[in-house]
Amino acid sequence: MAKILVTGGCGYIGSHTIVDLLANGFEVISIDNHARSSNYAIAAIEKITGTRIKNYEVDLKSFDDTLAVFQENPDIAGIIHFAAYKAVGESVEEPLFYYENNIGSLVNVLKCVQEFDIPHFVFSSSCTVYGNPDASPVTENSEVKKAESPYGATKQMGEEILRNIAAAGGANVILLRYFNPVGAHPSALIGELPIGRPQNLVPAITQTAIGKLPKMMVYGNDYPTRDGSCIRDYIHVCDIASAHTLALQYLLAEKNTDACEVFNLGTGNGISVLEAITTFEAVSGTTLNYEIGPRRAGDIVAIYANNEKAINKLGWKINYTIEDMMRTAWAWEKEVQLKESIVKN
Ligand code: WQD
Repeated sequence: MAKILVTGGCGYIGSHTIVDLLANGFEVISIDNHARSSNYAIAAIEKITGTRIKNYEVDLKSFDDTLAVFQENPDIAGIIHFAAYKAVGESVEEPLFYYENNIGSLVNVLKCVQEFDIPHFVFSSSCTVYGNPDASPVTENSEVKKAESPYGATKQMGEEILRNIAAAGGANVILLRYFNPVGAHPSALIGELPIGRPQNLVPAITQTAIGKLPKMMVYGNDYPTRDGSCIRDYIHVCDIASAHTLALQYLLAEKNTDACEVFNLGTGNGISVLEAITTFEAVSGTTLNYEIGPRRAGDIVAIYANNEKAINKLGWKINYTIEDMMRTAWAWEKEVQLKESIVKN
């Protein structure tokens, strides 16, 4: 069975993707230095799949340490590269920290890909590369506008670096542009673990609902949308995960028509912030304590995907509804609280 290296394998999307890869017969190793993740994921993945994978606690900013992992695993058939920092606000305050980490790590991995002639590379990109689109749904050919943050710039640069490498005859590349990944594995054994106060909507909702946060702010209800709040394309993390497995299978079967191909990963449904909150309240049976506040700098009004290319070319299927996203996010939040209470006592 093909061995896949997942960088950032202990993170939110990385851990869910490893579960899906293992369920589809791949052998998996991970590189994750736990700068933004925790080792709980390895044990949780084992509980879900029955397989304990090896995680190399290596900082990808060190070329020598990264190379050593490849030297120990010369049979890597493909790579999925998740490892990156992704806090938009932090990237504005610390641009160099983001360029050094996100681009420096990617370049080190790609130097090893070249050294070991690894044929297949899947890159974790983001709808953030579209900036503030003129209209939605956006297709893969929609204009890539000037990045709204250094984080977004690192995703755009990452894509450009990979396009150049694929064109020069390096690895075959797939760029996966996630819309808004949310929710958690149905087992509630893995999920999102925001560091500090959650910036993203769904963890802010669940932490408010469970009482970790006294209330949450809705950042603006005066946008030109159906209810005044921003519209996004929320997509379950398990649907994002399955797309990565399909992307690798697509490359391994040599079905790719270009050396570098791009796919949008979204449901194609735009949901507003207030609709997301209403859905959460309905599935959780709770009433959320929120206030309408001022707009958040950098927020775009609306974006949602045209996902036909991933469905038609990768055979991607979306299995989770917005209700499932909220239900699994809530189950995960309750599981985390239970664990924290056990640790505290
Ligand atoms: C969604 C909506 C907020 C929190 C970012 C990155 C993107 C990807 C996902 C990495 C917005 C509103 C949020 C809150 C709120 N990250 N909101 N109150 O900004 O669309 O995307 O995260 O890949 O690249 O850009 O996601 O969840 O932060 O915000 O009202 O407490 O929820 O204003 O309208 P975003 P988000």
